[in-house]
Amino acid sequence: MTAAATTPQAHPLGLDASRVPKHVAIIMDGNGRWAEDRGLPRIWGHREGAVRVRDVVERAGDLGVTHLTLYAFSSENWKRPQDEISQLMLLCVAYLDGEAERLTEEGIRLRVIGRREGLPDEVRAAIERVEGITEHATRANLTLALNYGGRDEIVDACRAIAAKATAGEITPEAIDQDTVARHLYTADLPDPDLLIRTAGEHRLSNYLLWQVSYAELFISEAAWPEFDADRFDEAVLDYAGRTRRFGKTDAQLEGTRPQ
Ligand code: IPE
Ligand code: IPE
Ligand code: MG
Repeated sequence: MTAAATTPQAHPLGLDASRVPKHVAIIMDGNGRWAEDRGLPRIWGHREGAVRVRDVVERAGDLGVTHLTLYAFSSENWKRPQDEISQLMLLCVAYLDGEAERLTEEGIRLRVIGRREGLPDEVRAAIERVEGITEHATRANLTLALNYGGRDEIVDACRAIAAKATAGEITPEAIDQDTVARHLYTADLPDPDLLIRTAGEHRLSNYLLWQVSYAELFISEAAWPEFDADRFDEAVLDYAGRTRRFGKTDAQLEGTRPQ
């Protein structure tokens, strides 16, 4: 074995591994405004946004972020004009088919969360293809939230738990936070450490309501089509300088804060 092979790689941002968020969730917002500001149809913003997804997935891997969960289409986005919805669905299929090979090569496992049955057949088929191809990838995890709503997710978990209670598989007293978490779409994922929202809005828009209870929030003024690797670095560095208290006092955390 060569010396190079045994020397640990320096972090690209000079961060200690414990300061890097393991799971970053992103509300990719501002595609439409980005396009409208340039006199372009909204779909151009969505297309440019899909290119940023590729950039951010790559940068996240370089920085040691093992889980990235991106909000691509909410359960409320069906209220948009039919034309925009159809184009977004086509873009999803194009993204999934176009990225399958790259994700496999990079060892990235793709998952999709949300109510699958509400999606068009072509989208469901593309999801199943890419989830299948990347199923055994272990280096990193990319999760797309599609037809996703945090409240729907909690309702679905309640239904599943209630069905088990009716079947006598669980008693109401045995239901705890862990039971709920294990019945969410994200049962296999850790909770997000960092939640980024682009385009300056300060709201959750029904995203990962249960899971972000203790996530650090980062709002970027940049629209998603402008959110490149440098902006992602900025959010990760900001997170690295934060103190997560989880309800404790500063004195209890002495020695765990960044220098
Ligand atoms: C985010 O950008 C993408 C989706 C919600 C699908 P928007 O389309 O919401 O862009 P704005 O917020 O209208 O600018
Ligand atoms: C949230 O953005 C959904 C996605 C980014 C997919 P929206 O643009 O739909 O959120 P609101 O309507 O401004 O709250
Ligand atoms: Mg928006």
